[in-house]
Amino acid sequence: MSERVLTGITTTGTPHLGNYVGAIRPAIAASRAAGVESFFFLADYHALIKCDDPARIERSRLEIAATWLAAGLDTERVTFYRQSDIPEITELTWLLTCVTAKGQMNRAHAYKAATDANAAAGEDPDAGITMGLFSYPILMAADILMFNAHRVPVGRDQVQHIEMARDVGQRFNHLFGQGRELFVLPQAEIEEDVATLPGLDGRKMSKSYDNTIPLFEGGAKGLKEAIARVVTDSRLPGEPKDPEGAHLVTIHDAFATPEQRAAFHAELRGGLSWGEAKQRAVALIEAHIGPMRARYAELMAHPERIEAVLQAGAQKARAVATPFLAELRHAVGLRPMTALPVVAATAADAAKPALPVFKQYREADGRFYFKLTAADGSVLLQSQGLAEGREAGAWVKRLKTEGAAALAEAPVQRGDGVSPAAVEAALAALVAAQE
Ligand code: TRP
Repeated sequence: MSERVLTGITTTGTPHLGNYVGAIRPAIAASRAAGVESFFFLADYHALIKCDDPARIERSRLEIAATWLAAGLDTERVTFYRQSDIPEITELTWLLTCVTAKGQMNRAHAYKAATDANAAAGEDPDAGITMGLFSYPILMAADILMFNAHRVPVGRDQVQHIEMARDVGQRFNHLFGQGRELFVLPQAEIEEDVATLPGLDGRKMSKSYDNTIPLFEGGAKGLKEAIARVVTDSRLPGEPKDPEGAHLVTIHDAFATPEQRAAFHAELRGGLSWGEAKQRAVALIEAHIGPMRARYAELMAHPERIEAVLQAGAQKARAVATPFLAELRHAVGLRPMTALPVVAATAADAAKPALPVFKQYREADGRFYFKLTAADGSVLLQSQGLAEGREAGAWVKRLKTEGAAALAEAPVQRGDGVSPAAVEAALAALVAAQE
């Protein structure tokens, strides 16, 4: 059986070189492996949690889709779709929400970080926190469980979310699977040997550090200018340089063959200037990125092509999601009224005679009474008047639990023309119904 690999890309921002090296390139390479069925999607519902600017959401979806396609994603081979095109995902989110422990969500890192920050600022712990942020892990669990993914390649910060998806999936299986595994329990997969690219200042390349090198934006010129700003040490041309730990070298090497790496390192040790080194790095990266940039520009000029690809992807994804969700709805009891087992149970219920009932009431004489009436309204037992309502209640309770055994002491008499056997049968039915 082929293994399903699934990952989501939150559609906020514009991909940079670090995203390409750390996520896009390895994911596309992995999708070409034999025996793997890949699902890649634009997590645009997740984007709404972080961003309430419609123009940015729209732009980012387009840019990210164009980037993945330009980078060589083969959409014949993989299922590439937008989360928001799959209504089954939001429906599944609710089914999962109903079996997710709130306490577990309280411990989710993203939510905890937000409440901790509020506490540190002396604010109400939940200030500014939406239910979207709080429930984020459940939406993510639905993304994963909907397609029964075996492996989920993610960054380290996402591992807790995959564990939560496993827990929720397991709980759902236990509650509704009747011994069957409805959901595959996913495994987080952290790419250990993929480079995290340093940014201009040497810290991890990230938009939040404002140290990114653009992937396509600004063209070849933009790439060149960014590389020129990568921090190096102050060794002069001609001085030997240590390639180990130099950020420029890490960036260069992410695009180099082993031979190119060895040659570059040797030249630096031999005194190559940083200026020269930067030019080589630009040339190498441009050779990789240049052709993709042209495809990217072409796609960005034709958003209708991207839309068509995503619509086709949604169709493929829904071919899996729609029947599976129908199965899950059935499992939790959301079934057509005509489902056979339910009809049979109803018929059996109807065949059973309706139960007799006790009624308690007060008469004009101020005393308290009770009576037992059959389903047709005829009186089976009639009590005497009692001083206290409590007494009447206590007798009803005894008759219901002890049945005919309590008759000898009870302050009651049979209704007109009612046989002792009829009363006994009625009480026996009530006792049985209690159990
Ligand atoms: N939350 C992930 C992130 O920020 C993106 C994501 C959403 C995801 N749904 C997913 C990743 C499902 C893997 C599987 O990186």
